[in-house]
Amino acid sequence: MGSSCTKPVAHVSSSNISGSKKSQSRTNSSQQKASLQTSHESVDPSISGKLKSFSLIDLKEATKNFRRENLIGEGGFGRIFKGWIDENTYSPTKPGSGIVVAVKNLKPESFQGHKEWLAEVNYLGQLHHENLVKLVGYCLQGKNRLLVYEFMQKGSLENHLFRKKVVSSLILAENVQPIAWATRVNISVGVAKGLAFLHSLNANVIFRDLKASNILLDSDFNAKLSDFGLARDGPTGDNTHVSTRVIGTQGYAAPEYVATDLDGFNEAGHLTPRSDVYSFGVVLLELLTGKRAVEDARPGLSEETLVDWAMPFLSDSRRVLRIMDTRLGGQYSKKGAQAAAALALQCLNSDPKIRPPMVDVVATLEGLQSSNTFQRTPKYANATKHSCHSLT
Ligand SMILES: Nc1ncnc2c1ncn2[C@@H]1O[C@H](COP(=O)(O)OP(=O)(O)OP(=O)(O)O)[C@@H](O)[C@H]1O
Ligand SMILES: [Mg+2]
Repeated sequence: MGSSCTKPVAHVSSSNISGSKKSQSRTNSSQQKASLQTSHESVDPSISGKLKSFSLIDLKEATKNFRRENLIGEGGFGRIFKGWIDENTYSPTKPGSGIVVAVKNLKPESFQGHKEWLAEVNYLGQLHHENLVKLVGYCLQGKNRLLVYEFMQKGSLENHLFRKKVVSSLILAENVQPIAWATRVNISVGVAKGLAFLHSLNANVIFRDLKASNILLDSDFNAKLSDFGLARDGPTGDNTHVSTRVIGTQGYAAPEYVATDLDGFNEAGHLTPRSDVYSFGVVLLELLTGKRAVEDARPGLSEETLVDWAMPFLSDSRRVLRIMDTRLGGQYSKKGAQAAAALALQCLNSDPKIRPPMVDVVATLEGLQSSNTFQRTPKYANATKHSCHSLT
């Protein structure tokens, strides 16, 4: 772990967690009124009118037949390719002309593929905010499900924050510069604003899968949330939470959501917007420490998460600096780091009611951003000088 701490983070092999008990989401009339989710099996006409419906041939042409050199990432549900389309007509163009887009080609056999694809289209077709990635359009043809997003030049936060990760034959983040402290604070503000926006909606939208790989960065390192496949409407009216099958990413999910009963079965996940606050606390911890929420499995090591490891340091303001990312080279304000760590501790409270709402998190982080408690240093001063993540 950090320079002065040698205790390892747990290694957990599976990234996605899934509960074993079935449960139903609760709805009432007020929820239905405010709902952003649709029960349709296909894209709602009111949403499809706002998005471009691409043919598979268009997207093959835009990505040069999903050529390997255009591959920019791969997740559990499919691969992402770089593509080029005309700015006005959205028809495919030659590489280097028109605008660049990111085309996600979902694996036909992927778990809940259609449901996730539809959730993404329904949410991102309706929600627009500077801290949410823009969905340009989609393709639904036979078994094929694709999504076309604005291209985010700096890739994901995951690619920048951690040492290289091999995804299939792709090696990510090989020659990436460390992200400066000021940029880390700006990223945390962007992510917090994106979540605060979702939580402020009538439908009380819960993002549910906040993690470093779902935080994308534009050319100026502005952060945007991506992947609404797991998002869902939150509790409204008198309901305190929604009960749902547990699904999300290990190491980031809130304890009340992944709680297991004495038999080791997952209880129905108690999901509220404060579950997102917990995940935000984990991301904040990753920004502070430069360590993953969970490391890849290594035989013989206990399954300790980043939160487990960092907790004793977070609650002691004198020791908290010992967990800071050594790649910052000491170039950060101690007061700023202590304040951010104190905020992470609040977000990670095991009692969801005690976690701060995202609007308060935004206010605290903006205070950090505007105060002189952190300085840009000559070494890492210019965020635009960071190199783009390696794609080969
Ligand atoms: N709009 C985009 N612009 C640029 N790069 C992107 C874009 N969307 C995704 N990527 C890249 O592709 C990677 C894979 O994204 P994807 O959402 O498929 O999987 P993931 O988030 O890594 O994992 P999971 O399957 O659990 O969501 C991202 O981490 C990012 O590097
Ligand atoms: Mg993702």
